[in-house]
Amino acid sequence: MRTVEWTENNRVRMVDQRQIPWTLSYVEFDDYREVAQAISEMVVRGAPAIGVSAAFAMALAARQCPALDVGSLLEFLEVAAVILKKARPTAVNLAWAVDHMMVEARDESHDRANDIRVALLAEAQRMADEDVATNKRIAEHGAELIKDGDTILHHCNTGMLATVDYGTALGVIRMAYEQGKKIHVLLDETRPRLQGARLSAWECEQLGISYEILPDTAAGYFMRRGEINLVLYGADRVAANGDVVNKIGSYQIAVLARENRIPCYSVFPLSTVDLTMPNGDAIPIELRDPAEVRAPYGCEIVPHTYRVRNPAFDITPQKYLAGLITEVGIVLPPFDESLRRAVESVKVAGA
Ligand code: MRU
Repeated sequence: MRTVEWTENNRVRMVDQRQIPWTLSYVEFDDYREVAQAISEMVVRGAPAIGVSAAFAMALAARQCPALDVGSLLEFLEVAAVILKKARPTAVNLAWAVDHMMVEARDESHDRANDIRVALLAEAQRMADEDVATNKRIAEHGAELIKDGDTILHHCNTGMLATVDYGTALGVIRMAYEQGKKIHVLLDETRPRLQGARLSAWECEQLGISYEILPDTAAGYFMRRGEINLVLYGADRVAANGDVVNKIGSYQIAVLARENRIPCYSVFPLSTVDLTMPNGDAIPIELRDPAEVRAPYGCEIVPHTYRVRNPAFDITPQKYLAGLITEVGIVLPPFDESLRRAVESVKVAGA
């Protein structure tokens, strides 16, 4: 199932993740600004999924713009790039995808505006296909860590919905399951947006993977009882030193995992690494609307006047991670050297 795609009538189509698990419905856009809004409002969410959505939105912007000359089209695209990059600040995949599309647009081999339109759509399609292929490579490496009979704790949603298809951390779990390993997954509900309870549980239902949803506060209890063998979660941006920025709550389960001697891994494509960030503290953390905490999905918990702080992500210092699962293999500490080498190996292979 492709969660984000380009339609025959030249629109961007995506699963409306706000409706899951109740309905599998799709929304279509023919204006890049609508895609930017869909990213902000989390119609589509998950670092790789928003990256590819933004790439398709750039292809959409190129078609929307009536310019006949290259210069005017590039000016229009510059504005679109700024609007799209502002939609969500933390996941680097979004800015990475938009910048990548601008490099493609500015390629001097494009003589006519139409050449740019064709090239941008082809590039967005290629990025979508590459996301799926990369996830499967990640999953093959990661599945080696999962033993028959393991119970895995997972945070947020990192499956097909968070990517174009297959997923990262949930992709690793899916691969182990498809290899015939008997596994069980404990899914943190992941407040306040409940990506674990709503989205990851829905994905496990679709795939037939054994799971239970946990209140976020229950992870330590089950770790201490010896019921968890492995902790896996994704990443929205990884700093050069291996610090991982991911969904709020990731840090506390990494610390609990260390206390209980359980290995904790972050799983991501190398496009999620931002070598310009020396450590996690340099990465911008998105603060979201307090209404998400006061009244999740319209269910009022406290009066709208009550004060709230709602950071969407936190930072796991690299010392809590046993390794980083990527498409080129499992990157091990010390991460300063090994992560840079992994990123460079992909650049060399793609050059
Ligand atoms: O706010 P979200 O739902 O977009 O946050 C998503 C996460 O934090 C995921 O764990 C991360 O993007 C990795 S998804 C493959």
